[in-house]
Amino acid sequence: MKALILVGGFGTRLRPLTLSVPKPLVEFANKPMILHQIEALKAVGVTEVVLAINYQPEVMLNFLKEFEASLGIKITCSQETEPLGTAGPLALARDKLIDDSGEPFFVLNSDVISEYPFKEMIQFHKSHGGEASLMVTKVDEPSKYGVVVMEESTGQVERFVEKPKLFVGNKINAGFYLLNPSVLDRIQLRPTSIEKEVFPKIAAEKKLYAMVLPGFWMDIGQPRDYITGLRLYLDSLKKHSSPKLASGPHIVGNVIVDESAKIGEGCLIGPDVAIGSGCVIESGVRLSRCTVMRGVRIKKHACISGSIIGWHSTVGQWARVENMTILGEDVHVCDEIYSNGGVVLPHKEIKSSILKPEIVM
Ligand code: GDD
Ligand code: MG
Repeated sequence: MKALILVGGFGTRLRPLTLSVPKPLVEFANKPMILHQIEALKAVGVTEVVLAINYQPEVMLNFLKEFEASLGIKITCSQETEPLGTAGPLALARDKLIDDSGEPFFVLNSDVISEYPFKEMIQFHKSHGGEASLMVTKVDEPSKYGVVVMEESTGQVERFVEKPKLFVGNKINAGFYLLNPSVLDRIQLRPTSIEKEVFPKIAAEKKLYAMVLPGFWMDIGQPRDYITGLRLYLDSLKKHSSPKLASGPHIVGNVIVDESAKIGEGCLIGPDVAIGSGCVIESGVRLSRCTVMRGVRIKKHACISGSIIGWHSTVGQWARVENMTILGEDVHVCDEIYSNGGVVLPHKEIKSSILKPEIVM
């Protein structure tokens, strides 16, 4: 089986992290977002993944080359010269997606995290005989997603409405599709939205089916959702008794720590924390609900909560960093500084406190 992952877009909502690497390569729980997906696809028998890309393909391919071998899966790029939206890239990659087998193929949004129940999705797709399947999940705020109205018992989709202004329902498109090759005949090679132009038509012909995704789900394309997503992901590791979770007297709740990270005396870490490779957490540090990316140093008695600390940054002694502070790559926060929701661009030094949420350029 084959799969296409939509990795276009500039990831503006996840700046300043995406000023350093393309969004799919930003680590989530100590692993680039896209690797979570590629591993799950591999596990259900996908042999080739096509990355539909419109930006920095070299960075992406160079990075993924080493995983091609270790995961034993073919990874290729299909590069757009102009952004083709969420359907146009399928037309562009048509020859890569179709082969003699006539098998359906997966299409994934790249910024979505879940337990990836692809096996269940394949079974579901086989069972209904329609042309396309998608996964849906329930959310409290459906207006920022694609809303799906379906017949509960069969899963047949009645309507698909992208980003509705008025309430139509609370089941939303989770961003995972399984499509028969015939869907490609509906898509032209031009900028096209699969959500606005393709799914509504297949639904009108009663050939679009949806299943409710088991387990957790989150679009982690914005900082607040990224932090919530980490909590849900770690909860799910806990539920499956994963050996990846850290334990010890200094750990509270669910935490993952890369084995190369060093943690000093008297720290209190958790809940919902990820600490990346090569990090140094000095003594007496308090971390909760945060991600500390590769190569970061947190100095003595600093306190960080609800924040993301970008690669190779340092946070000074007794500093307090909280409320959705996002530090880009290589940011240096001086001793005793307070940051309340500062969004700091890469390579900056923060010498005075940031008292209210603002962007520091
Ligand atoms: N190759 C390529 N080219 N990819 C693109 C382009 C493009 O021009 N534009 C967007 N993408 C990719 C993004 O990288 C992302 O992986 C996916 O397409 C969806 O785009 P987003 O910008 O993240 O869309 P969204 O989050 O507002 O909405 C989508 O996802 C929701 C679930 O998270 C829609 O599919 C909604 O229906 C869905 O509910
Ligand atoms: Mg998104």
